[in-house]
Amino acid sequence: MEKIQLAKQVAQKAGRLVTEKFNELHPVKAIDENGIHLEIDFQVEELIKSSILEEFPNHAFLGEENGHNHQQHNYQWIVDPIDGTSNYYFHNPYHCVSIALAEDNEVILGVIYEPYSGKTYWAEKDKGAYVDEKPLIYQPDKIKKIVMGGRTNEFRLKAMKEFVIAQKNYYYKMEMGSAALEIVNVAQGYVGLYLVKGIHLWDVAAANLILTELGGQVLGFDGQPWDGQSDSLLASVDEKLLEEVLAKIK
Ligand code: IPD
Repeated sequence: MEKIQLAKQVAQKAGRLVTEKFNELHPVKAIDENGIHLEIDFQVEELIKSSILEEFPNHAFLGEENGHNHQQHNYQWIVDPIDGTSNYYFHNPYHCVSIALAEDNEVILGVIYEPYSGKTYWAEKDKGAYVDEKPLIYQPDKIKKIVMGGRTNEFRLKAMKEFVIAQKNYYYKMEMGSAALEIVNVAQGYVGLYLVKGIHLWDVAAANLILTELGGQVLGFDGQPWDGQSDSLLASVDEKLLEEVLAKIK
């Protein structure tokens, strides 16, 4: 099966499990510096991992919950079973399943399934970005809407205090709890810029490709292309806005 077809099918299958369990009370497995981990996160990751490795048993696999499968291969799947776990825990439907595939450390496909809308966002390197079977469209907004993301309240408050451009037509919001969906919103122009501290590759690997396929950029707080490892990034299609916010950060 084509890798992109597999990624879509698996993301949708995982999404059905996520939806099925949504109205239950969610047992917590752990709370650590990366946030909360629910039993359902582990179940969904296992479902994704077994479905992908059944098809490609030698591929490397990196998931948020169980880490790396210690397989050496030039293809590596990068998976966040539920991006927005904290929302899910509070029965807030802003969450998604995120699956990316990297070849020689470069992400070549990304799929995000959003259970709430039933939409599948996906992209392949140099082939554009899509929602279900339609091209995804970037529509710039006159209002510069900026989302201040971050794992800790301390960082979000610092961002709201220090990184704000106090001008008409700029509008701010604290993070909504799913980096992947927030970046998909940036790709569509619903959000002008998203910035976050406390991020991991599995949260954003798929979404970043969707954004860059629509002409967007993902930068570290140093203004360089995001290296996939640092815990902070800015994402936007609007170069001027990136420059303005970077000037505040530096
Ligand atoms: C989290 C979300 C959140 C971001 C955190 C991530 P998770 O992912 O994407 O928006 O601020 O840094 O860890 O834990 O729900 O997969």
